[in-house]
Amino acid sequence: MTRPAADATRAERATGTPMVFSPLRLRDVEFKNRVWLAPMCQYSVEARDGVPTDWHLVHLGARAAGGFGLVLTEATAVVPEGRISPQDTGLWNETQQAAWARIVEFAHSQHTAIGVQLAHAGRKASTWAPALRRAGTIPAAEGGWRIVGPSPVALDGLDTPHEMTRDDIAGTVRGFAAAAARADRAGFDVIELHAAHGYLIHQFLSPLSNFRTDDYGGSFDNRIRLLVEIVDAVRTEWPGRKPLFVRFSASEWVEGGWTVEDTAELAARIQPLGVDLVDVSSGGVVAPGRITVGPGYQVPFARQVRGAAGIPTAAVGLITDPEQAEHILAEGSADAVLLARAALREPSWPLRAAHVLGIERDEAPYPTQYLKGAWRRHH
Ligand SMILES: Cc1cc2nc3c(=O)[nH]c(=O)nc-3n(C[C@H](O)[C@H](O)[C@H](O)COP(=O)(O)O)c2cc1C
Repeated sequence: MTRPAADATRAERATGTPMVFSPLRLRDVEFKNRVWLAPMCQYSVEARDGVPTDWHLVHLGARAAGGFGLVLTEATAVVPEGRISPQDTGLWNETQQAAWARIVEFAHSQHTAIGVQLAHAGRKASTWAPALRRAGTIPAAEGGWRIVGPSPVALDGLDTPHEMTRDDIAGTVRGFAAAAARADRAGFDVIELHAAHGYLIHQFLSPLSNFRTDDYGGSFDNRIRLLVEIVDAVRTEWPGRKPLFVRFSASEWVEGGWTVEDTAELAARIQPLGVDLVDVSSGGVVAPGRITVGPGYQVPFARQVRGAAGIPTAAVGLITDPEQAEHILAEGSADAVLLARAALREPSWPLRAAHVLGIERDEAPYPTQYLKGAWRRHH
């Protein structure tokens, strides 16, 4: 994406189509609209083998059929020890790749782009799935595994991670690259690197979790090194025609943490390395201070990063209403919006949004099978 993001917005706004339903092109991938499904862990892997199940097909498939322009998978581990819980998906072997390929094929049958969020949980790995209602790191005796992080410092309530060696770091970078190659073979259109919410990459970025004294810790340049290496390695495996996203936590909501200015600076540095869009979230590395949570509370971060770094952004966080989504895009705060919880309540949120925003029935993203359900203006 070479043209400045702001120009893209102006050009598309001139066509008269609501921004939510204006296509967006990044590299060779055209997203049919700008309302996208946010990554959401489903904790639904059955055999602790990282293989997505029918649940994932239905979860992502329903939202692909529901009109989202892009569906993102849950945080998908690049190595087994990078899973948040034993029920997480992975992309470190061929069996997982084949299972993802089936889901990708279904999304494509709906003309919906599909992306995989590649992740490593670091010191937040090996935890109980929320439904089990148990806190803490899973002990080895109960099926947990050795956890790692930038520094041997625990997040409250979790075990202390092992400080990663240079070999561990190199292995992690190779893990991301290998998963990127598999993501391509599975047919994914997008990779999103999970550098947010206090997981491994964020643990390296943040001065609140990275206390290393080698060249992966200390200065800004050192703390971003792991991500820069991962971006480089992923880009060698991920085709130039396919876009690469990174999700950041633009604020930690505590003094002395990673900031929105840091996020903008890093976004500007990685854009030339082949990052096409930054997905702007917040929080996760430590217990937050005071957060004022309300509709679109993270949108100003997306706006600031987009303005300062000139990189396309996606906004996320309490975006629930079609007019609100349209406003975020039209005011130039972001190039796309991501919905998480609203999409759990309403898998076909974009179909209703099309009606609310005055998209003609034939232009709305209905699957053929569902056309009889299309809203008519007088209903
Ligand atoms: C059930 C659930 C699982 C989530 N899992 C992930 C995840 O795997 N990766 C991630 O980056 N964010 C994850 N999130 C955060 C969402 O992507 C999103 O940023 C957050 O819920 C705020 O958006 P919302 O207000 O639309 O729900 C999850 C959120 C929920 C509700």
